[in-house]
Amino acid sequence: MADRLIDAARAVRQQAYAPYSRFQVGAAVEAIDGRVFTGCNVENASYGLTLCAERAAIAAAVAAGAREFRRVAVATDSDPPAPPCGACRQVLAEFAMDADVVSVGPVQRAEWKVRDLLPSAFTRELLA
Ligand code: THU
Repeated sequence: MADRLIDAARAVRQQAYAPYSRFQVGAAVEAIDGRVFTGCNVENASYGLTLCAERAAIAAAVAAGAREFRRVAVATDSDPPAPPCGACRQVLAEFAMDADVVSVGPVQRAEWKVRDLLPSAFTRELLA
């Protein structure tokens, strides 16, 4: 089935800067107004500074004024498909707790809800 969000994640994956891990990731988020924003992983010689694709996509969206999202797509070369890492789950929970996540590899596809990926999430409601 055609899915423009998955197409966008696969396309931006080509821009991934991953010379250290060689694991290229593309992500696309769909805002509630229908706009799509994308991001790829950006690694660094200081490895811990690596930016994940999902967080890059959220940052692009927020910079454009989008803060609520329906869906997130992730594209990698991994089957079974890769779920978002812990840090990305936390950032997705901030803006997209009710969103669906779809991750695609070359062949397989997996889906989750953000809220199921991060049970007992630390959220803004907990801040005094
Ligand atoms: N990576 C992502 O872009 N998103 C994730 O959710 C997991 C990991 C990237 C970080 C690093 O560049 C590479 O994948 C291998 O960990």
